[in-house]
Amino acid sequence: MKFYMPVRVYDEDECVKAHAKDIAALGNKALIVTGKHSAFANGSFDDVAEVLNDVKIEYSVFSEVEENPSVETVFAAKDKYASAGIDLVIGIGGGSPMDAAKAIALVLKHPEADPAYLYDKEKDASSLPIVCVPTTCGTGSEVTGVSVLTRHDKKTKISMVHKVFPTLALIDGKYLKGASQTLIVNSAMDALSHLYESVINAKADDYVRMTAAAGLKTWAKIKDVLSGAREMTKEDAGILMRASALAGMSIAGSGTSLPHALSYALTYDLSLPHGRAVGYFLPAFMEAAPAGERDELLNLSGFESVEEFRSFTGSVFGEQDVPAEELKRTYELVSSNAAKMKSASFTVDEEVLKQIVFWKK
Ligand SMILES: [Fe+2]
Repeated sequence: MKFYMPVRVYDEDECVKAHAKDIAALGNKALIVTGKHSAFANGSFDDVAEVLNDVKIEYSVFSEVEENPSVETVFAAKDKYASAGIDLVIGIGGGSPMDAAKAIALVLKHPEADPAYLYDKEKDASSLPIVCVPTTCGTGSEVTGVSVLTRHDKKTKISMVHKVFPTLALIDGKYLKGASQTLIVNSAMDALSHLYESVINAKADDYVRMTAAAGLKTWAKIKDVLSGAREMTKEDAGILMRASALAGMSIAGSGTSLPHALSYALTYDLSLPHGRAVGYFLPAFMEAAPAGERDELLNLSGFESVEEFRSFTGSVFGEQDVPAEELKRTYELVSSNAAKMKSASFTVDEEVLKQIVFWKK
């Protein structure tokens, strides 16, 4: 067994400003990697910029990261900044900017890197130091080494093979303020899927169960915010972020399983948000899982049964129809991927996979 979580995590109010010195210790010239809008609207960019100015770190801003960032975007950043003397990368936002920041920090460290570098296990995985400032509550990317990138050549998303962990994660629930209910639901359901899939996983061990159990108990506290039963408070925002980080630590230990594998083509083809695409398959995956372990996980997160969980996902996501052709492509992609088929803690043959994919008769 191995517990490897090399990220220094701070989770507190005004976290970015409180840790200016920690940022300053990592470099002299930063590249801030963000999406186009939210980091500029929720105050996170301003906080980081203020701190960088205070500690006299020069910075450039690459704000071209799209939802589900592509390999092409990573190399657009490399082309632009390869000779700019960047020695620190700061990812601000949801999973997309943070995942892009990791890949960019990797290729900026290796001037010779081409797209194949990201998918070549033999290559050096060292990167520039990375600071992550999450502004959503699902990905957990601030504590994982994973960078999921869109591969237009394969018409899906594929994680790069290298594990590139941030050095520093600065977590502050205040950046969730103003996020839409839809974004909160999509990302919190992604976090929940990380917690379930990391445990119902061939690679799960007691360390994964430890972080997942803490994450599930934390997540249970905000279930009624997702259902709309009450408004999100400042405390809830912090709890949502914490559940997401604990879920990230769980998948850093064991990885995700079939709902994630199945989700990628749906996101690519239908532009379904990640949490929603994963959530489409999650209840059927839970139903197929061994009852003892499954019910324990459901109970920790506040559900008494698979039926209650299925009805909860139905109520937060609403009715979701996926075209039969799309489900067929998804099924074929995953059923032909031996590693994905073996990723769960229980035996998944073609029949079981069909139950999970085609659950909606
Ligand atoms: Fe995810």
